[in-house]
Amino acid sequence: MSCFFTLLAFALLGDAAVLDWTTSYAKASSALQGLTVEEKVGIVTGIGWQKGPCVGNTPPVPKIGLPSLCLQDGPLGVRFVQGTTAFPAGIHAGATWDKDLVYQRGAAMGEESRALGIHVQLSPVGGALGKIPEGGRIWEGFTNDAYLSGILMQQTIRGLQSSGVQACAKHPVGNEQEKNRETMSSNIDDRTLHELYMWPFADSVLADVASMMCSYNKINGTWACESDKLLNALLKDDLDFRGNAQHSSVQSALTGLDMSMPGTDYNGGSIYWGPSLTELVKNGTVPQTRLDNMVTRILAGWYKLQQDQNYPRVTFNSWTGGTGGPNVQSSHSQIARQVARDGIILLKNDRNTLPLRPSGGSIAVIGSDAITNPDGLNACKDKGCNNGTLTMGWGSGSVELPYLIDPLSGIRNRLSGTTTNVIPSTTDDKNAAAGAAAAASMSIVFVNSNSGEAYITVEGNAGDRINLDPYHDGNGLVVAVAAAAGGKPVIVVIHSVGPMLLESILSHPNVVAVVWAGLPGQESGSSLADVLFGDYSPSGKLPFTIGKSRVDYGDVAVEPSMVDSYEEGLYIDYRHFDKMGITPRYEFGYGLSYTNFTYSALAIQPATAMPAGLYDTIAVITCTITNIGPYAGAEVAQLYLSLPPSAPDSPVQQLRGFDKVKLAPGQAGTATFVVRKKDASYWDVPRQQWVIPPGEHRFVVGSSSRDRKLQGGFVVQ
Ligand SMILES: *[C@@H]1O[C@H](CO)[C@@H](O)[C@H](O)[C@H]1NC(C)=O
Ligand SMILES: *[C@@H]1O[C@H](CO)[C@@H](O)[C@H](O)[C@H]1NC(C)=O
Ligand SMILES: *[C@@H]1O[C@H](CO)[C@@H](O)[C@H](O)[C@H]1NC(C)=O
Ligand SMILES: *[C@@H]1O[C@H](CO)[C@@H](O)[C@H](O)[C@H]1NC(C)=O
Repeated sequence: MSCFFTLLAFALLGDAAVLDWTTSYAKASSALQGLTVEEKVGIVTGIGWQKGPCVGNTPPVPKIGLPSLCLQDGPLGVRFVQGTTAFPAGIHAGATWDKDLVYQRGAAMGEESRALGIHVQLSPVGGALGKIPEGGRIWEGFTNDAYLSGILMQQTIRGLQSSGVQACAKHPVGNEQEKNRETMSSNIDDRTLHELYMWPFADSVLADVASMMCSYNKINGTWACESDKLLNALLKDDLDFRGNAQHSSVQSALTGLDMSMPGTDYNGGSIYWGPSLTELVKNGTVPQTRLDNMVTRILAGWYKLQQDQNYPRVTFNSWTGGTGGPNVQSSHSQIARQVARDGIILLKNDRNTLPLRPSGGSIAVIGSDAITNPDGLNACKDKGCNNGTLTMGWGSGSVELPYLIDPLSGIRNRLSGTTTNVIPSTTDDKNAAAGAAAAASMSIVFVNSNSGEAYITVEGNAGDRINLDPYHDGNGLVVAVAAAAGGKPVIVVIHSVGPMLLESILSHPNVVAVVWAGLPGQESGSSLADVLFGDYSPSGKLPFTIGKSRVDYGDVAVEPSMVDSYEEGLYIDYRHFDKMGITPRYEFGYGLSYTNFTYSALAIQPATAMPAGLYDTIAVITCTITNIGPYAGAEVAQLYLSLPPSAPDSPVQQLRGFDKVKLAPGQAGTATFVVRKKDASYWDVPRQQWVIPPGEHRFVVGSSSRDRKLQGGFVVQ
């Protein structure tokens, strides 16, 4: 019923498969005793890019039963391996705002990794956080809100690790753009670092994440992987992170980095650690204790997940087509479909156009984004193109699709046996589109916007997007359809990696409905049909803000120079719109349903005494949500907290709780928000600690960051 008990149940479930750190460390320390320096160096160094079956591999140490450890991307499934599930991307899972479902997605991915013998799955992503709307990899994470990201990181980590695979939270911190990512410096002030960018990683440590991978960029001029402040002061001391910090292809980083992966650069040339680390330890430059600490942390993660007992062997090979492994998909397509469906956000629905009730007539299905890539399902390496419907972005965070139900197929399947037929026009040709729209009784137009990792450029987008418009002149395509449709309804469906500008699309009176279908993975068309035809009411909410113009987002652009000073501080996305009093087109947390919900009976139960621990509960807030409409549906109730005036300059409001309540028509349920002490605190820079400011902490409960239904407060003495 409440998120508090749900979380507790997960913790207990997790504990059954996972050892505590003390026991894991004891086993690791004892295994360490018999190892030579060369063996220890082996454990902390990859054997080289493409030298083993996985993207990262260590040499085995048979005398302690340690196999070659297998590390594999990535955040939405298992990269490079055939017969695995292509789940919806992080940003789409974020749009579900569903803690249970995100846990299940993690558990299903973890089951696939474990069955394949993967020890560490490089997932989930909390950085890039997403401060720059065009940032190439913002779709790999869940949202640009630190709180929502933190909770969904926790759920994913618990899910992955409940299946026996080590999670790897990545990438702390400051890799917010692809341009210059390996050379630029993110100079983030201390308060912003704690309250935004480190926040999701702090939650990850609470969820017992086994490892973290630092980002490529510099922080204040020092490589993230060499930053004593990041690795030691922040991660290992402040957060008490006991897993291991790793990185791909960075120069030897001896300030707290524990593993160098893949061990060489991506050409197999320079070797970063290996024999040179052995030399450095033998001649005393790197203390033996530091090497022992690295090895202990890595072995502890392996023991913690009990991977020393009956763990499957790796039989696939990433470099020969990803075949050779077992088929591990099980019934995960159902979870993939549910996440895809529940992450769909209904932005506009005039005259109750949706759901569609097929009763004769015809539907024009328009746009190249409605069909599978004509060149083949996985024709573009690492999804590095934008042909056919968009299911995920490109780069190391992509996977091979095992199959795809594209939107056209999903709609056709759903209409089979009805008297409604489909008129497809599946290029982006405007004349053909206009012809289909004129002939049909209504039109559904598909547009998209794509981005990815910097090593691939797609249609002029070198990782980061060059603008927030649809690709392939999607705006022009919608104009052509709307003009040809006359008074007949036009529905626009959008697949996108992140925020887009919709003013052009919305300016046509014929565009009566807009459906944000995100990055849905392999079950794209079936999940879309579930929602379009009313088998399920849409229940996704925006995990970012859709502004009316690019300038409304403020000065958070892809930085062309070598330094980004993060001058905007805490004020990204809705924190910026709120501070500047800018009305967005669709605010953070927004999303319509086919049914209606009322909010009532706000209650607050403050802690009887101020708790000592930062993550202890200071207040439990509840309210009643009632479904007064005609459809079953789910409402994401959201809690936004404002710090009292005794705090230094702070955001107007910040998300500090959410609960997705599923209700039949006429049914009432309780939304519960458990506010932790940290959620009501700020990072005090001079004192170098979290401080809960005295005074009245006001809060609102609503259906978005601007649709406020109930309000209240609690006083801190
Ligand atoms: C970076 O510099 C800023 C400004 O001096 C400081 O507040 C912050 O703590 C530094 N961060 C790191 C990780 O060194
Ligand atoms: C230790 O070995 C490294 C790597 O071979 C070398 O660069 C360094 O100069 C040596 N230092 C000492 C003090 O011998
Ligand atoms: C696929 O995309 C590339 C650009 O990324 C383009 O050159 C090519 O024509 C596209 N193929 C089809 C069939 O649309
Ligand atoms: C209920 O929801 C529908 C669809 O979103 C909307 O048109 C209608 O105005 C709502 N009714 C009430 C009473 O809020």
